Amino acid sequence: MDDVQTKVEANRRNWEQRTPVHLASQFYDVHNTEVDRMAPFEWAELGDVAGLRIAHLQCHLGTDTRLLARAGARMTGLDFSAASVEAARELAGDLDITYVRADVHDAVAELGGGFDMVYTGKGSLMWLPDLDRWAGIVRDLLAPGGRLYLVEFHPLAWMLDGDFNIVGNYLDEAVSSDSARTYTDGPELAGDTVNFQWNHALGTVVTALSRAGLRVTELHEHPVLAWDQWPGMVRDETSGWWRLPAHRPRIPLTYSLTAVR
Ligand SMILES: C[S@@+](CC[C@H](N)C(=O)[O-])C[C@H]1O[C@@H](n2cnc3c(N)ncnc32)[C@H](O)[C@@H]1O
Repeated sequence: MDDVQTKVEANRRNWEQRTPVHLASQFYDVHNTEVDRMAPFEWAELGDVAGLRIAHLQCHLGTDTRLLARAGARMTGLDFSAASVEAARELAGDLDITYVRADVHDAVAELGGGFDMVYTGKGSLMWLPDLDRWAGIVRDLLAPGGRLYLVEFHPLAWMLDGDFNIVGNYLDEAVSSDSARTYTDGPELAGDTVNFQWNHALGTVVTALSRAGLRVTELHEHPVLAWDQWPGMVRDETSGWWRLPAHRPRIPLTYSLTAVR
């Protein structure tokens, strides 16, 4: 194993530890089928997904996979964590969803191609070391004319501290961490606390997709985040997500992107 593969494998072990904590968390509230964790802007930009064959990369507990399946899409979820895939299968209930346990980097071999859409994001790209490689995989999963829909935390959001001061880097960087806490409520991880992440600036994402031959057709920056990461955030009435208080600068916390093969 080279250095990058060793880091990806460490991340897989870390996700096996996070998954039981997330499953029991209020944050994910997995048994509550009333919760729509997708923002109205996502549904609007996705359009009608009924009948579409969609690959959901890094699907975790299948939260958004199930929402898309309920909207009529024919869903395949992929994640490298055995615990996540097992939980997602169980939570699918009567929904007809295919889940595959695999590394994103093996997605084409595992899933084949010809998808109408690839859906991914909300904390996914930061686990991928090489976006040129990822963009080629997305292209190969899509049928000609197929779409990527990506919703990610804006790299600007990672720069802020709890007082909304800019303290972090914007540009690409590799970050390692050793923390027993995950981002949800719940107990500390039982082990495998070391993990490796890669910040990707917006320009890196768009350039990787263009280089792979995908045409970026939309890129929207949103002043909201899916959860209240910092004290003082206020609920946004339009999206149901969270924004900075009115006296703070209006900066993007999330972006959404559509690209066509
Ligand atoms: C933050 S979660 C994604 C969250 C999901 N969008 C949601 O809202 O629940 C990140 C997921 O990426 C998966 N992951 C990280 N690196 C991966 C890789 N190289 N291949 C496949 N899955 C990976 C983890 O197992 C985890 O389930």
